[in-house]
Amino acid sequence: MKIAIAADHGGYKLKETIKEYLEIRGDEVLDLGTDSEESVDYPAFGKACGEAVASGKAERGIVCCGTGIGISIAANKVKGIRCALCTDTHMAEMSRKHNDSNVLALGGRTTENKKALDIVAAWLNTDFEGGRHQRRVDMLDSM
Ligand code: RB5
Repeated sequence: MKIAIAADHGGYKLKETIKEYLEIRGDEVLDLGTDSEESVDYPAFGKACGEAVASGKAERGIVCCGTGIGISIAANKVKGIRCALCTDTHMAEMSRKHNDSNVLALGGRTTENKKALDIVAAWLNTDFEGGRHQRRVDMLDSM
């Protein structure tokens, strides 16, 4: 799968860990930065990842900042993006099954690496259930 990934300085280290994990899995990674722990602005990186997914340059996106909150808000400003900030594997699975999330947000300062990779795996391995959930997702996309 082609996955766009982006982070601010608070999520940089986690982004690098996730990138390595995805490459080992065999995914193609589109790294949209940032490239260090130097302070940057999370809205620009959330927007870039959201736009990569919305335009079809990537099938899915993963964004990281300190808490995952700011960058998830930014990604969700892009039309067509359903970004879910997840703190455990159950949330990740539900965000796929019910919400068809196409971007995952994680907090580099709030979720430790091993747990974050479990969340990424759960999110990538879970399909959207469709059915009654499709109409609600369509409502989201028409907003
Ligand atoms: C940066 O200090 C921090 O505010 C950012 O990484 C994120 O947590 C925002 O939601």
